[in-house]
Amino acid sequence: MLTNLFSPLAIGPHELAHRVVMAPLTRMRASQPGNIPSALNAEYYGQRATKGGLIISEGSPVSLVGQGMPATPGIHTPEQIEGWQAVTDAVHSKGGKIFLQLWHVGRISHSSHQPDGALPIAPSAIAARGQAFTASFERVPFETPQAIDIDLISLLIDIYAQAAANAKQAGFDGVEIHGANGYLIEQFLQARTNQRTDQYGGSIENRTRLLLEVVEAVSKIWGSERVGVRLSPFGIANDSGEDDPLRLYGHVIRELNRLHLGYLHLIEPRASGAGQAEVDHKNVPSAAELFRPAWSGKLIVAGNFRPDTAEAALAAGHADAIAFGRLFIANPDLPERIRRGAALNPYHRPTFYGGGAEGYTDYPSLDDAMEAAE
Ligand SMILES: Cc1cc2nc3c(=O)[nH]c(=O)nc-3n(C[C@H](O)[C@H](O)[C@H](O)COP(=O)(O)O)c2cc1C
Repeated sequence: MLTNLFSPLAIGPHELAHRVVMAPLTRMRASQPGNIPSALNAEYYGQRATKGGLIISEGSPVSLVGQGMPATPGIHTPEQIEGWQAVTDAVHSKGGKIFLQLWHVGRISHSSHQPDGALPIAPSAIAARGQAFTASFERVPFETPQAIDIDLISLLIDIYAQAAANAKQAGFDGVEIHGANGYLIEQFLQARTNQRTDQYGGSIENRTRLLLEVVEAVSKIWGSERVGVRLSPFGIANDSGEDDPLRLYGHVIRELNRLHLGYLHLIEPRASGAGQAEVDHKNVPSAAELFRPAWSGKLIVAGNFRPDTAEAALAAGHADAIAFGRLFIANPDLPERIRRGAALNPYHRPTFYGGGAEGYTDYPSLDDAMEAAE
């Protein structure tokens, strides 16, 4: 029945056995001090791994400057690399694949996360509307960031490259560059957050430059076929949004198309709040349908998918694989449940961010549920 979801797919050199991908999901449960992936984190990812399945890790800050939320596991210290090694081992021991999501939040940070309490960096000194998450889990208004000096942009690209090399050392199978949801790369892409007058701002070509330079630097480490890029052309998360997304993202995707990436990962506009609320916008365009013609590589799509709509999107040729976020939080064995047409556990939003095992590693699999019933 779900023949498309359970047909094989090659992503670069990786032969996937099915197309039920785990979306990147920040859970704010890294061990402290040091934002280090823990044994509990390894258990969580191991539970969600399947033979030939693809997991994309939660966003992993490429540097302390790139961190915006407490207890998010970074990829810039030896201890973090070691912590991630246990995560990749847990996934590989079940025959799964895992990509690390390279994350820099830019202005969606707070000085409490920054070295020496400095202001966060961004393309331009424009504060986001809304509330930052401080290092002590408090919510306070965003600060006005400092515009990154042009001389420091090459350093920023080196930081991405180093993080990508660290991910390799930690045993990942590839990396995804987070270019979505209002974070640094998207802040450069979009006009409202990028009012620079140098070669990284102004025209669409200039605003796309940082993303392309990061892709190029990371591809040198991994080979482009092991690199993915995530974009949210119609997103509004973290005070983002572009007036003419078709024009901007048409250009971005055509440029990326020349680089032979492992995949492009798009978030659908009906989930424009990036899973932060129970929104399901109706009568909105489909990013997959709109941008597919500009993209000749593999396409992963996310955003409010259910098993039936996921199968339909694949059957219609709109995407090659579907990433599930919230359903994967609540269903450690999501691919198996979908395959069998089994009921899905509901997710519990209050335990999405922070805390311990509750709402993290204690959602039952079908086998657990059966044992409990016996
Ligand atoms: C708790 C939570 C954490 C998330 N963290 C990330 C993240 O680290 N990186 C990212 O690109 N998207 C993140 N997202 C967005 C999801 O990857 C996904 O695009 C969104 O939830 C819509 O998919 P869904 O309807 O299947 O949940 C997060 C969403 C949720 C609910």
